Amino acid sequence: MTSRVAFSRLPPEDVAEMWKKIGSPFRASVNEQEIYARFLEEAAEHRDNPKMIVLGVTPELRKLGHKYGYQVTCVDFSPLVITVMDILMGEEGERDIIVRCNWLETPLQRGQYDAIVGDASINMVELKSWDRLLKIIHDLLKPGGYFVTRTMVGLEDSIPFTDALKRFGKQLFRYPERYIGSLQYALITPENNVGPYRLVERLEKLRKNGDITDDEFDIICMRIPPGRVDVYILEQKQFEDVLSKHFQIKDYYYDKELHDAEGLIAMFPIYRVVKKL
Ligand SMILES: C[S@@+](CC[C@H](N)C(=O)[O-])C[C@H]1O[C@@H](n2cnc3c(N)ncnc32)[C@H](O)[C@@H]1O
Repeated sequence: MTSRVAFSRLPPEDVAEMWKKIGSPFRASVNEQEIYARFLEEAAEHRDNPKMIVLGVTPELRKLGHKYGYQVTCVDFSPLVITVMDILMGEEGERDIIVRCNWLETPLQRGQYDAIVGDASINMVELKSWDRLLKIIHDLLKPGGYFVTRTMVGLEDSIPFTDALKRFGKQLFRYPERYIGSLQYALITPENNVGPYRLVERLEKLRKNGDITDDEFDIICMRIPPGRVDVYILEQKQFEDVLSKHFQIKDYYYDKELHDAEGLIAMFPIYRVVKKL
């Protein structure tokens, strides 16, 4: 059965090996990377020496930044994750500027960046700070700069976890990547926390009761990074309202394969929004 040792208790080389095996929805899928690529390519057009910030140290986003000619600056407060992602980036990572700090306290100079990109980064921040974070992102961008964000959002009111299990049935174990977000959302707390460890704990109980097999437990949980990471969510309409305070929403796209399932209650759209003046 999957061993769930917290990343912080392992050497960075081992975490890097484990990270390679984690797929959707906790890392951008191939289709999602194509959407990011299109948005970032467009944001770099007609701009000399474009500069981009990654909220985090996500290798896929850093590599896209290089591909489209950006000077990449990564902002992340975790020394462990910075080291792990440096291992995964290899020499290519050496060209990036790494700033170790909280996004909410970043010392980076305002008004200097053509694009800011984050893979579910907003979801890592407590809801009460979303407006503050979006204002900081707004201020860091140049006029006309783009913020590109894959964000986990709810599609409707949450439903009880047992209803979600019934609704998804055995499909859950065939296409776990499609359903994990909805299962997290079914376990939402009053603070809108949908941290994936809560899903692991719930599945652990089902496994102990014999309601799911060890293999079924593994199919879901091997995709979920270990550790107690809180993740926060809003319904899509509410998220758009918060975004619209600081940005004009251009459009959003999502991985159609990942969302090709009946009855999903959460999704992972990638928004492209432009700084409001
Ligand atoms: C960008 S998110 C999501 C991970 C992403 N899906 C990926 O593929 O890399 C995870 C990163 O955000 C960082 N992080 C979370 N909250 C942060 C904050 N307030 N300030 C700076 N870094 C933060 C964590 O340390 C972690 O490295």
